[in-house]
Amino acid sequence: MASSNSSPAWKALQAHHSRVAPAHMRTLFEEDPERFSRFSLKHGDLLLDYSKNRVTAETMSLLADLARAADVEGWRRRMFAGERINTSEDRAALHVALRNRSGRPMAVDGADVMPAVEAVLSRMRAFADELGGGAWKGATGTPITDVVNIGIGGSHLGPAMVVEALTPYRKPGLGVHFVSNVDGTHMVETLKGLEAATTLFIVVSKTFTTVETVANAKTARAWLAGALGEAAVGRHFAAVTAEAGAAAAFGVEAEHVFELWDWVGGRTSLWSAAGLSIAVAVGMDRFEELLDGAHAMDEHFLSAPLEANMPVVLALLGVWYIDFFGAGCHAVVPYDQYLRRLPAHLQQLDMESNGKSVTRDGAPAARATAPVVFGAPGTDGQHAFFQLLHQGTRLIPADFIAAAETHNPVDGHHALLLANFFAQSAALMTGGSAMEAAPLAPHKALAGNRPSNSILVRRFDARTLGMLIALYEHKVFVQGVIWGINSFDQWGVELGKELAGTILPAIEDAQPARGHDSSTDGLINHFKALRAGPP
Ligand code: F6P
Repeated sequence: MASSNSSPAWKALQAHHSRVAPAHMRTLFEEDPERFSRFSLKHGDLLLDYSKNRVTAETMSLLADLARAADVEGWRRRMFAGERINTSEDRAALHVALRNRSGRPMAVDGADVMPAVEAVLSRMRAFADELGGGAWKGATGTPITDVVNIGIGGSHLGPAMVVEALTPYRKPGLGVHFVSNVDGTHMVETLKGLEAATTLFIVVSKTFTTVETVANAKTARAWLAGALGEAAVGRHFAAVTAEAGAAAAFGVEAEHVFELWDWVGGRTSLWSAAGLSIAVAVGMDRFEELLDGAHAMDEHFLSAPLEANMPVVLALLGVWYIDFFGAGCHAVVPYDQYLRRLPAHLQQLDMESNGKSVTRDGAPAARATAPVVFGAPGTDGQHAFFQLLHQGTRLIPADFIAAAETHNPVDGHHALLLANFFAQSAALMTGGSAMEAAPLAPHKALAGNRPSNSILVRRFDARTLGMLIALYEHKVFVQGVIWGINSFDQWGVELGKELAGTILPAIEDAQPARGHDSSTDGLINHFKALRAGPP
């Protein structure tokens, strides 16, 4: 049961906040020369420096008490035990089984899921090897040169992010592309330059009903069949889904259908066959290294004491700013161009998991929940939204992420990138007094005391990337537990889907739209007038 606002742990933090909030981090650093080592954690090659936060040792202790009061350890046990913690859908959330490298069983409803997980992994390996080795021949007997992942949300964002992040490890000779948006432009632009005879589509959809994915799959099918005939579909489509029947009805051969399970949520599915495009892009060995990294973070999450537990510390710091400082946003800035899609993945992971206002029991949430997550690669973000981070009226905690080693050692660039990585969190923390004469002074003053976490790794390879993604998965999970919400359903996206379904006929109907709110009717009718061309 989540601790309520009035629980002793929340009350103690509220009182503590009144005392510690006015403290400036400059002072905290001046008072404790060991602050960096005292407020940082290491796990393998990953360092989490959380010293540039508006916390003291007492703060962290009281936050850990809050985690205990919310039974974080109990919910962690339930998740790893395959209990149905996705309460509104009566499902387990056992994505940790997908990367369970321990050899220990992991069960849902008492049945060990590992044999099925291992079976899918070996089928993924065979599939990736066949494609990568040119042994997969299309309908015309030609090897496949391009693979197109068709999916959206978790069936797109995670795989696309990982494929981009692991660009340095790409297998030669295979193009891997992603289509997610139902805007025809996405499919049209992707198909430009592709040949039907050498293109394979992977349709990734747990439900196989997501409108965007089904529409894109049908368009791809028409393109393929139009070029090679209906009989060619079977050689040019694979599917990853929990609905094998729907995939078969679409024309995917059973041997090219990969199973997804209902105990895997979309936003934590990249470790499953939903990550097939990753295995195709970088090879199954790299994919398994990704799993190894995530498993290493799982082991840390399971075993480290709360006070020294990276996901728990990140989660608690987020709660500290959201619920005690009123922060509404959280910035993620990877100082690594290959990680440019990370913020988008974390948006779904965080905001679709915890962007809720009722607790697991259906009661109104007692406090603010998920922040608006946004971000961009550093240093680009510095020339886009950092002005607000430094001088805006809002407190926006930021996570800065970087690697000591670059995959592309161009003279002087990495040092410059890392100098900015180090400088930005320092500037946010210390601020700066204007050296200007009076008139400009207020405009140039930086108050500082703006918190950030710094995550520094040796190099972004598959294992380290797996650790990083799992770190954020568990952070989001812990925050959901503290807020008492179910982080594994997403009922909020259903109404929009239903409305789109009812509005579609109004768009296609020659008659003026009516019966919706006046804005929707007005917009639809204006759209029709514009579509009809100039008067
Ligand atoms: O955004 C809603 C959602 O259900 C996500 O949770 C999911 O990742 C995405 O749509 C795609 O769902 P599916 O894999 O079933 O097509």
